[in-house]
Amino acid sequence: MIEYPQGKSLASNAILRVAAATTVFLVFLWYLLLHDVAVQHQHQHQDPAPTSPQTIIPNIVHFVYILPDDARNFKFEFSHFLSLFAASHHFRPDTILLHTNVPHSGPEILRARNGTAGKWSSLIFSRTLFPTLQINTVPLPTHANNGKSLANMEHKSDFVRVQAVHDHGGVYIDWDVHALRDMRALRESGFKAVAGRQLHGQINSGTFLSVKQGRMISLWREQMHEVYDGGWTTHSNEVVTRVGERLVREPPGDEILILERDAFAPGSWEAKDEEWLFRVHNDTGSNLVTESYGQDGQGKGQGKEEEVPVHGGFDEGEAFEERWEHPERFPKWEHDWSGTYLLHAFSPFRFGGDIYGFKQITPRYVLERRSNFARAVYPVAKLMYDRGLISVNDTHTGL
Ligand SMILES: *[C@@H]1O[C@H](CO)[C@@H](O)[C@H](O)[C@H]1NC(C)=O
Ligand SMILES: *[C@@H]1O[C@H](CO)[C@@H](O)[C@H](O)[C@H]1NC(C)=O
Ligand SMILES: *[C@@H]1O[C@H](CO)[C@@H](O)[C@H](O)[C@H]1NC(C)=O
Repeated sequence: MIEYPQGKSLASNAILRVAAATTVFLVFLWYLLLHDVAVQHQHQHQDPAPTSPQTIIPNIVHFVYILPDDARNFKFEFSHFLSLFAASHHFRPDTILLHTNVPHSGPEILRARNGTAGKWSSLIFSRTLFPTLQINTVPLPTHANNGKSLANMEHKSDFVRVQAVHDHGGVYIDWDVHALRDMRALRESGFKAVAGRQLHGQINSGTFLSVKQGRMISLWREQMHEVYDGGWTTHSNEVVTRVGERLVREPPGDEILILERDAFAPGSWEAKDEEWLFRVHNDTGSNLVTESYGQDGQGKGQGKEEEVPVHGGFDEGEAFEERWEHPERFPKWEHDWSGTYLLHAFSPFRFGGDIYGFKQITPRYVLERRSNFARAVYPVAKLMYDRGLISVNDTHTGL
């Protein structure tokens, strides 16, 4: 006798078990797959690649201003204010660190704040204009570790700036460096340091970026003390160039990015470059026009007259390829600034020659917009003008 029903029930039992086991297995497999995906996903996020915090250069801007022993006042000029304002405007820094050798509530800073040291010093120390600016009082270095005494203020500043960027990380700029755009793409590029070349190929020490205690800045800090000999750039450009070019070759290749000259230092300290940057072009009309205001405000010429800048500043940008495809639409002398992050405008007073139409960097000189320098920094000066911070007739000393 075939126990059919029982056999049938056994068979269906077996089918159920197989089905149950298969289900459990499938669920397990599904879990495994999902888990695997999740793990991979996690790995992608933990990859120590470009966006990890260790390789993001912090959004801190460093300035150094050393007062000579016998100086009672900061001597900030309009161009210094322009430099700080542009960095603050373009970078939107978390912190601006002003490293100096006087105490943060000492008489020098009080006099700067209350206007005794001129308009530009009081604006630079204005808490409303630059709420993230912190004064960092540093001891003034007098000697390199090799025993040689530091020859001048510029060299003392060189040692202070390298130490500051080593300790905090961030972007260092000299007071004659003018930010033309944000540095975020460079800070977050995945390189632990960024520097730029200058005329004749050395790395310029007036602008550089680094993560805190990065290798480039650590080596520079160490070696500048060893090689210091009083030479103008032995401990600065020469060291950062040697260290930088060595580190470019260091696997995995993220220690330093060295940019071409146009990025940070398109001009130079030589006469023809100073002329190119600062000379006034009298074949181009001034951007300042005289407007008259009648007493009824209708501008019929009976009331006061005022010179006002015409060009709007930012966002009057030309089309992407316009300067490339239609150079004839632009004056020949005009430089295309779109490839420059930072304009290191080397002081035109070093070489001592005359520059046509140029005397000092004043609001009028910039607002007239008749030189390559003026065109580069005009958008920021126009913002200052619109906010009532500068007047056409302000002097370069603000005194
Ligand atoms: C500015 O501050 C200095 C130092 O505190 C003080 O001696 C001077 O009288 C002040 N001047 C003005 C105009 O407030
Ligand atoms: C314009 O500039 C040139 C120098 O490039 C100078 O020789 C000439 O006298 C200037 N013209 C006027 C009208 O100022
Ligand atoms: C600037 O100075 C000139 C004279 O040099 C004068 O005619 C003009 O009205 C002044 N402008 C302002 C805004 O004070």
